[in-house]
Formats: sequence, structure tokens, C-alpha cells
Amino acid sequence: MSRRHVVDVIAGDGIGQEVVPAALACVDAVARRFGFEVEWRHRDWGSDHYRAHGSMMPEDGLDQLRTGDAIFLGAVGDPGIPDDVTLWGLLIPIRRAFQQYVNLRPVRTVPGREGATEIDVLIVRENVEGEYSEIGGRYGRGTPDELAVQEAIFTRRGIERITRYAASLSKERTGTLISATKSNGIIHTMPFWDEVVREVADAEGVEVDSVLIDALAARFVLAPGSLDVVVASNLFGDILSDLAAAVAGSIGIAPSANLNPDRSAPSLFEPVHGSAPDIAGKGLANPTAAIWAASMMLDHLGEEEAAAVLLDACFSSLASGVSTRDLGGTASTQECVDDVLRRLD
Ligand code: NAI
Ligand code: MG
Repeated sequence: MSRRHVVDVIAGDGIGQEVVPAALACVDAVARRFGFEVEWRHRDWGSDHYRAHGSMMPEDGLDQLRTGDAIFLGAVGDPGIPDDVTLWGLLIPIRRAFQQYVNLRPVRTVPGREGATEIDVLIVRENVEGEYSEIGGRYGRGTPDELAVQEAIFTRRGIERITRYAASLSKERTGTLISATKSNGIIHTMPFWDEVVREVADAEGVEVDSVLIDALAARFVLAPGSLDVVVASNLFGDILSDLAAAVAGSIGIAPSANLNPDRSAPSLFEPVHGSAPDIAGKGLANPTAAIWAASMMLDHLGEEEAAAVLLDACFSSLASGVSTRDLGGTASTQECVDDVLRRLD
């Protein structure tokens, strides 16, 4: 019997509807070649579901997803619906309910981009706590006394496990582990983050360098070649990964894996970019981030060889000059995918 993986697909909004089918076609092609099957369970969740039913996903959505092996997401976000509704109605609940505490975001210069800076970093973003918290509130709405308070939550357990994960990646590579901090300005949570990161790194035998987030942002631009594995809180990791992708050439290339390393629930794979309403429906979306995310998913599902071949095909297509407008090319999303598929046959 051939190997079979059950994957829930949430194409979602905007260009999610274009890059997801592109990535699935590529996975189907490598699956045929390597003798496994993927059962895609398509979920029409997202902003249209919200308009029709008042929620981004059904009430038992998480239970439905729990029975699968992985989740593949395009993007959520619609100009007509507040972003906090779309994000907190779908993606954030999935990350938290399934304890996807690692958000792994590799950024590498892709071939075929004239003048792009050399960069090859792994950003390890804490994914379930930190600055993205529900604790806080608003007071005196609409009055001159109006105020808002939002608490950041950092736990020893949370910092330890994300650092342990980053340290394990750092050991497989050569460089020093860099930790993003802001302990000069944020005087409670960030010194705590620094302490726990250092304890874990010491215990793991990994050298760690704590760098203030503002200086680190500049370093991503000025000396990206000096960076290797970067561990960061939820907010800092989010910002750094878009920055890193831009340095590498385009936000349209960066993939992301929301991992539950204990495998007690499915992990979720998605491009870093959003729904890009400005280019949606025009065939301009770069499918690279989605295809790379699909390759990370195959790797997680134990199909390492297929994952590597898929990524190779995608990169060699870019190297041959087939790319979308954001990378300086003229190809449509479909033309990019067709070229990758040709290389997979
Ligand atoms: P965005 O990533 O959607 O777009 C930023 C810029 O990059 C736009 O100019 C867009 O055209 C371009 N871009 C993005 N992906 C591209 C691709 N594959 N190929 C070519 N160009 C690409 O970020 P933005 O504009 O801040 O957010 C748009 C919506 O997406 C918002 O509603 C936001 O909340 C949502 N969003 C959702 C995410 C998710 O589902 N994980 C992540 C980020 C944003
Ligand atoms: Mg982001």
C-alpha cells in the first residue's frame, strides 16, 4: 500500500486562491513520482465564510482539522473586514489550539534575481505567546481619556522550548545563534527572555549573541551574510521575517512552517505573505513562497526526498529566468507553475 497523507487546505482570501492551487499541483506531481498519495480536504473558510456565516471557520473547525496530518493555508485578510477579525478568527486559534509554538521561516536569496543581496537565515519565531496576547482592554472609548492596554506574556516554558528548537537548528549549521531583544527599553519581559535564552543555549552548548532589535534590523539590511539562525519573540520574528524576505528579493518567496514539534496535533504550512488585495485575481502572484511552504510540509510528513526535489525544481525554474513581476520577471503565476511541473515530470 502506498503512503497516504491527509492535508486540510484553506486557500483563504485574495492571492491565497491563486498560490495554493499552484502549490498543490506541484505536490501532486512529486507525489506521483515518489509513490505516495495526498488526500486534500478543501475547506472554504475565510472572509467569504465570515460574510455568509459570521465566522471565519465553522464552530467545530478545529476538531475537523485535528483529524488530519497537516494544514496548508494560503492567506486570510480582506479589505472589507478588520484584520484582527480575520487573523484572530482563524490563523491564531489554529496556532494556539494545536500548540504550533515554532514558526520557522527560512529566508534565502533565490536564484535569478539580479542584484539581490546574499542571505541565508533561519528565523525561529515564537508563535503562541509574547506580544500577541488577548490580555488588555480599552477604556473610555471616544473620550479624551481614552486609553488602551495590552500585556505581553512570556513564560519560562515558552522561552525554553523555542530556544531549544533554535539551538538544535544552530547545531546543524555553523553560525552563532542570534537572539532578538529589546531589554534596554522593555524592562521586564525582555531581560527575562535574555536570561532564559542564555540558560538554554549554555545547556545546549550553543553560542548565543543577544542583539537589540533595532540594531538587528539594520544588520539584516547592511550585513545579512553575518546572520544564520535567529530566535525571536512573536512580534520581532514576524517583522524580521518580512524584512529578511525583502532583502532576499521579494515577500513573494518566503515560506513559513507553524510547527508542533511534539506532533500532538497537525502543523500548519503557509507563505509568509498575506492576501495581497492589490494584485489578487491578476495572475501576478509569485507562487514560490507557497511551493516552498509545500516542500517544508512534505519534509515534515516524512517525504524528505520529494521535498528536496520539489524545492530544487522551483529554484531551477527561477534560475532559468521564469519569474513573476515582483522578482523582475514577466511570467504569470500559471506560467511559473507550468515550468516547475515540467521539471518535475
Ligand atoms: P501582503 O503580504 O498581502 O502584501 C504586501 C505587498 O507584497 C503587496 O504589495 C503585495 O502585492 C506584495 N506581495 C505579497 N505576496 C506576494 C506574492 N506572492 N507575489 C507578489 N507580490 C506579493 O501584506 P499586506 O498588504 O500587509 O496585507 C494584506 C492582507 O493580508 C491584510 O488583510 C493582512 O491582514 C493579511 N495578511 C495575512 C497573513 C496571513 O494570512 N498569514 C499574513 C500577512 C498579512
Ligand atoms: Mg507577517
